[in-house]
Amino acid sequence: MTLNVKVFRFNPETDKMPRFDTFKIEEFPNMAVLDVVMNIQNYHDPTLAYRCSCRIGMCGSCAMYINGRPRLACRTQVSSLGTKDITIMPLPNLPIIRDLAVDMEPFFEKYKKIKPYLIPKQDLKEPVICKPDSGERELIDYMLECITCGACYGACTMVATDPHYLGPAALTRAYCLIADKRDAATRERLVIVEQSEGVWRCHTQFNCAEVCPKKIVPTQAIQQLKKRCVFKRLGLFRG
Ligand code: SF4
Ligand code: FES
Repeated sequence: MTLNVKVFRFNPETDKMPRFDTFKIEEFPNMAVLDVVMNIQNYHDPTLAYRCSCRIGMCGSCAMYINGRPRLACRTQVSSLGTKDITIMPLPNLPIIRDLAVDMEPFFEKYKKIKPYLIPKQDLKEPVICKPDSGERELIDYMLECITCGACYGACTMVATDPHYLGPAALTRAYCLIADKRDAATRERLVIVEQSEGVWRCHTQFNCAEVCPKKIVPTQAIQQLKKRCVFKRLGLFRG
């Protein structure tokens, strides 16, 4: 079977306008979209720029806008698209470096803002025990699977309309730390996420959850953060 592949091309340093190039690619069994992109670069146009590393859905570097939604190219089987026509574009809401490679700096700048590392309480006795069956622990556990691929960021209409909005991945990480009883910076993080570019920008559209390759629901984390922000305002937050 032959695939009809349209690929977004743009070099901001030399091109006035983006364009689409089209390629005819022979499909093989279990072909992933990343195989398609590599095939184009190997056999049709070596100048095609894109990013990938692990090829097993772990590094998060191959997120692209494939047939109208952000997906990991390495984990998207061509057969799952249900069509032989494939359009591949860079992840939305991020500056284009070249072709399919975007600059992740704005994404990680926001990630950095919420201090994405544990700041341990000084008075805890080691080892600190977090029971696996505690309610909060369960919510945190599956959210720790985030691979910072930026798919949620690319799908978020609030990021698209407000470039200062922290976005789903940073807020999910903030929740994981705020809900962790070992963390000493809970209030500090709540102050960051309750600001105008924080949780209240989320309009609960679930676009982030729809595209997350790790089945994380950032909206759930954001709702948990909103609840804690309200409790803090009412003086009821114990953290
Ligand atoms: S929450 Fe999901 S979509 Fe967003 S960066 Fe993490 S793994 Fe990617
Ligand atoms: S190449 Fe690492 S997630 Fe796709």
